[in-house]
Amino acid sequence: MCGIIGYIGDKKTSDILIDGLKRLEYRGYDSCGIAVINGVGGLYLKRVSGRVDALDALAASDPVKGARAGIGHTRWATHGAPSEDNAHPHTDCSGSVVVVHNGIIENYLELKEILLKAGHKFKSETDTEVIVHLLEEKLKNLDVAEKNARQAMLEPVFFEAVRRTIADLKGAFALAAAWAKCPAILLAARQHSPLVAGLGEGENFIASDVSAFLKHTKRVVFLNDGEIAAVKKEGVTFFDFKGRKLERESIVIQWDSTMAEKGGYKHFMLKEIHEQPEAVEDTLRGRLLPISGELLEREINLPLELIKKFKRLQVIACGTAYHAGLVARYVFENFGMPTEVDFASEFSDRAKITDKDTLVIAISQSGETADTLHASREAKVSGAKVLAITNTVGSTLTREADFVLYTHCGPEIGVASTKAFMGQLAAVYLLGVHFATARKKLALAEARTYAEELLKLPRLAEELFLSEKSIAAMAGACAGSEHFLFIARHINFPIALEGALKIKEISYVHAEGYAAGEMKHGPIAIIDKGMPVLAVATTSKAISLMAGNIEEAKARGARVIAIVDEDSRKLIKAADYIQVPKTMELLSPMLNVIPLQLFAYYVALAKKCDIDKPRNLAKSVTVR
Ligand code: M6R
Repeated sequence: MCGIIGYIGDKKTSDILIDGLKRLEYRGYDSCGIAVINGVGGLYLKRVSGRVDALDALAASDPVKGARAGIGHTRWATHGAPSEDNAHPHTDCSGSVVVVHNGIIENYLELKEILLKAGHKFKSETDTEVIVHLLEEKLKNLDVAEKNARQAMLEPVFFEAVRRTIADLKGAFALAAAWAKCPAILLAARQHSPLVAGLGEGENFIASDVSAFLKHTKRVVFLNDGEIAAVKKEGVTFFDFKGRKLERESIVIQWDSTMAEKGGYKHFMLKEIHEQPEAVEDTLRGRLLPISGELLEREINLPLELIKKFKRLQVIACGTAYHAGLVARYVFENFGMPTEVDFASEFSDRAKITDKDTLVIAISQSGETADTLHASREAKVSGAKVLAITNTVGSTLTREADFVLYTHCGPEIGVASTKAFMGQLAAVYLLGVHFATARKKLALAEARTYAEELLKLPRLAEELFLSEKSIAAMAGACAGSEHFLFIARHINFPIALEGALKIKEISYVHAEGYAAGEMKHGPIAIIDKGMPVLAVATTSKAISLMAGNIEEAKARGARVIAIVDEDSRKLIKAADYIQVPKTMELLSPMLNVIPLQLFAYYVALAKKCDIDKPRNLAKSVTVR
């Protein structure tokens, strides 16, 4: 998830772009840049590793005058570390074409190979750079028209080159391109990543979201997938990918800029809960072998020999990432791989049984959690290899680990982790299937079945949001309770823990997650009349035992809210139900966690808590 902006008009372009990037920083902030067309043929390019303030200072020290068009980008790294070279905009070999991009180009390695053979020189490690060289190539092929053309005639050439470029791209993109030889037009295109055009008076904009230009105009057109916008000072024209002109109606946005950053949601947490289908899609995108559904080796670079050889797995993580680790244990053990899971803070103080036969998996959204870093360093000293699952390219964990598998969730702003957890689960399943096939514990046909089910999850998660209103009502009705209990069994037990953690951290009430089978061994004593018990009871091998545990809670006066699917609903008797779409038991945590996140959110909302910045907590815990 990166932020892009483009401007064309009479104002000082660099200022408009930089101001827009500051407002888009919540989408990514590891590096940024602007490219401004400075008269015909002139290109002013400034990029920095770091935040937009640094870019602002750099641009102020070397200002550009008279420019009337440009594009800018603030990055959240997916391919290539955060650095100036990897910062956007990217330029072609001639230095006259520039591109900014948000998304993931799935076939970039194939395209890069072709472009390298054609003599293109690459300056970055990004997937984006293939777009600009491809565009250069397409422009070359349209050269005849260019040579004969006057300025205005170049615009159709540029348009056609962009159109042909995007026809070759697979994956997700929102992109904007400028060509110094053709300064009166910017071209932008959307496929699975957001893009919106802002329509002003004698000036126009294109951006990842409206917050980037809201102070200049509130009249917008949201692009649909498969659309191109030709942005000129006089107006914006829309086309489909075949080049046919489209009629698009503009709308007037009522949001202020803070609301716009949150996509109209009241809190980042709610927005991020809703971004989970996209987080799963992005974490899977372009990483599975089409035939078997296995993880592509290049995504992890963990030698097959090592995968075949290790005797045990040890997961280390903190908080929500630890819960992803607990799910991982069920997944890996399901495929016959002995797995231990520890809080990173506890692992550090225990006698080590990790050694060269252990593969340690460190899970961390930020890649900067002090306990996780310390534990993974200790694991390395014991001779183990460390594989990091993280959302943050260039983080300390990625530099210190032997291998890295990225989740591609974009920045998570809400302190309560939601979409990062989802990305971690997706990564865990990818790894589980990859290891199991490499170790001959899973036939390729079975691997494919898992992959197919995984790929369905984003759509199923979208379906689940249809129940949001009724979840909000149940949460509102329970918001006065001082104690909440979350119960589940087996692979959903970590989801009970996660549900309880979410409610604790944003509502400041007592909540416990328990393995349902353990209830009779003590905790059932705390249940009294009206206490909310959230029971994860989707179809599983243990469903009849779970039904029994629900009866036991009800018998003590609990108000049970059961998370069920179509089939298990018939077996469970509860006060309230939240029905989730059905998937394989092994994958069910990815759907079951969503209603619990929403429930926690709406309890906190009813209690008027500071949801995105809960008391006493920090997004990243960098001290031990
Ligand atoms: O960045 P990390 O994934 O290493 O962070 C780990 C925990 O601090 C984090 O998950 C924390 O528990 C969240 N606030 C949970 O919502």
